Amino acid sequence: MKLEAVIFDLDGVVTDTAHLHFIAWRDVAQEIGITIDPVFNEQLKGISRMASLQRILQHGGKAAHFSQAECEALCARKNNRYVATLSSLTPASILPGITDLLHDLRARGIRIGLASVSLNAPIILNALGITPLFDYCADASRIKHSKPDPEIFLLACRGLGVTAQHAIGIEDAQAGIQAINACGMAAVGIGDDLTGAGLLLPSTRELNWHRLDAYWQRLHSASAPAKE
Ligand code: G6P
Ligand code: MG
Repeated sequence: MKLEAVIFDLDGVVTDTAHLHFIAWRDVAQEIGITIDPVFNEQLKGISRMASLQRILQHGGKAAHFSQAECEALCARKNNRYVATLSSLTPASILPGITDLLHDLRARGIRIGLASVSLNAPIILNALGITPLFDYCADASRIKHSKPDPEIFLLACRGLGVTAQHAIGIEDAQAGIQAINACGMAAVGIGDDLTGAGLLLPSTRELNWHRLDAYWQRLHSASAPAKE
C-alpha cells in the first residue's frame, strides 16, 4: 500500500509552543488560586482551550466555581497572554529535522497536512514561514471534539483527499496518538513517554523520510498476504 499523506500535529512536533501554553495557563491559574506544574501540563497537550481550562479547574477543585461567561473570560485572558508570546517565533523556532522532512515529502509527491486543535495554528505557521509547505491545514474552529477524538485527523484526511489507511500521523501527545489510532492511521510518536505509537522517536531530530518509509514498509509487509 502506498503512503499518500503525512499529517503533522503542530505544538511539540513542528515547533515547541507547549512551554508557552504552559506559562500562560500557569499565570492565569495562579490568579484564581490554582497551581499547575509541568507534569500536570502534559495532560493539556492536544486538548482545546476550554477543555484545558476545565481540567485546570478540576485539578484545583474549583470546577463548579465559575460560570460559562467567566470561563470564557479566563480562556480569553490565557489566549491574550499566549498570543503575545508568539511574536518570539521565527523560522529558527522550527524543531530540528522538520524542514528537511517537509521538503523530502514534497519531493516524493506525498501530501502534507496539519491536524492541530489550536485556533492559533495559522498565525504560528505564518511566523515559522512554512504555510506554503502544507497542502491542507484542518481548521480547528470546525471540530467539536479535541484529541483523543479522531475528528481533527479525519478532517485533515478529507481535506487532503486521502483515506486514513494511506496516511501517517505524527504526534507528541498521548491524546494525539490515541486520535491517530482511532482513525486507523499509522502513528509516529515523538517523546519517550508515549504508548500506542507504531514508531516512537525520542525527538524530531530522529525524524526523517528514511525512518518514515522504513516504518511504512514494515507495517505493510507484515500485513501483506503470504506469497504462494
Ligand atoms: C494544541 C496544544 C494544546 C492547546 C490547543 C489549543 O493542541 O497542544 O495545549 O490547548 O492546541 O490551542 P489554542 O491556541 O487554540 O488555545
Ligand atoms: Mg502536540
